Amino acid sequence: MDFRQLSFPEAPLIKAVPPGQKSKEFLDFQTSSESSAVSYPKGLPMAVQKAKGATVEDVDGNVYIDFFGGAGVMNVGHSNPQVIEAALKQISAFTHSLDIPNPARRSLVETLLTLLPGSMNKLYIAGPTGSEAVEAAMKLAKYNKKRPPMIAFEGSYHGMTSGALSLTSSLGFKEDFLPLLSEVHFVPYAYCYRCAFGRKPETCEVDCAKYLEHVLEDPHSGVGKPSAVIVEAIQGEGGSVIPHDLFIPRVREICDKYDVLLIVDEVQAGFCRTGKMFSFEHTGVIPDIVTMSKALGGVGFPISGMAFKQELDTWPPGKHIGTFRGNVVAYAAGHAALQFMVASNLAEHASELGQSMLSRLKEIEKESGIVGEARGKGLMLGVELVLDKTSKKPAPEFARQIRTFCHQNGLLIEIGGHYDNVARFLPPLVITEDLARKGLEIFADAVTSTEKSR
Ligand SMILES: Cc1ncc(COP(=O)(O)O)c(C=O)c1O
Repeated sequence: MDFRQLSFPEAPLIKAVPPGQKSKEFLDFQTSSESSAVSYPKGLPMAVQKAKGATVEDVDGNVYIDFFGGAGVMNVGHSNPQVIEAALKQISAFTHSLDIPNPARRSLVETLLTLLPGSMNKLYIAGPTGSEAVEAAMKLAKYNKKRPPMIAFEGSYHGMTSGALSLTSSLGFKEDFLPLLSEVHFVPYAYCYRCAFGRKPETCEVDCAKYLEHVLEDPHSGVGKPSAVIVEAIQGEGGSVIPHDLFIPRVREICDKYDVLLIVDEVQAGFCRTGKMFSFEHTGVIPDIVTMSKALGGVGFPISGMAFKQELDTWPPGKHIGTFRGNVVAYAAGHAALQFMVASNLAEHASELGQSMLSRLKEIEKESGIVGEARGKGLMLGVELVLDKTSKKPAPEFARQIRTFCHQNGLLIEIGGHYDNVARFLPPLVITEDLARKGLEIFADAVTSTEKSR
């Protein structure tokens, strides 16, 4: 199956300026009947009718190019027929089995293990969400090392359940729910555009990693020896932050030196997103524990898990349980999706197309006074909006304006970053060169129009 044929042929197509009348009715109903905590429709006001490949149609008949990809879930494309076929076959056989073995589960586990480094030879299917994979990873680390502290990074996002939220840096997400887990400490990530140490990547000595070592080495750092350091090899919600090349390798060395486990959270960056099956593969580093979810469920069937080294598999049966330790339909869909990724060489496509998209974004960065930095790896891209390039003052209002312009002109994008000032692109990896080019032109117009309006 040629993945280039998966999307709707005509996109973008705007019939009624979004949100159209029908979308508005859905949105009104949602506002009146669902919790005010609902958030995505606030930025992308629309109701979805159907979606294919890298395109989404709303209930008013508008067709969008999708640079959002269900927040990194839709790597193999919306409604991928190969995945849907596998899911339907499983639905008609049976759909729930806790963690009792079955052919679908076995196929998924077998395939995943062939895609992971040889030393990561144990898998645990966690609950349905990425947050729960993070909870499981934290428990596995603590069970093995018997130390409560954990270290995470500034700009991190690891989820919303209390444990995972403790490891997430955004105060906006957590300050109303404190205290969360105690003994979680944050150290700077290699966010070179806003280096915490005021250094330039060309000349720095990866001071952020040095600082991690300092915290572990100095008995007066105030940080107890942790069970694990948890890191995203490329930060997602933190603003598509690509760390200095030496950062993750140094973190690995430091963890080894101080007998601390290294958890790499691949929930967002995994499954070919960055041009490799897993983003840690860019670093030459092998983690002790890897968390995964999102694209693992194929086309949005919820599932999550973690892979880890056999020597960590010390916990007894039942140490981390629940009703949904996986989902049989998601196993089948996930297995079909992995096969599709490999057969279609989606990693290579993401890498090549990502490079050409980044080149275009770099041109936009050069031409525009409000684009501080365009960055990315594969199809995990970000554009940081600033009031001006000298002060680098974050401009979340520009990011919101650009998102709205894009939406109204047929392109779906997301916003993230420390200051909500990064336009983020996570398109389905089946997006074609043509759709990517059209989407980027809408984005370029959005930047120009926003800059002119200030
Ligand atoms: C890196 C990372 N970890 C964990 C999570 C949490 O996953 P979920 O939203 O499925 O709980 C996310 C979600 O965006 C993520 O990006």
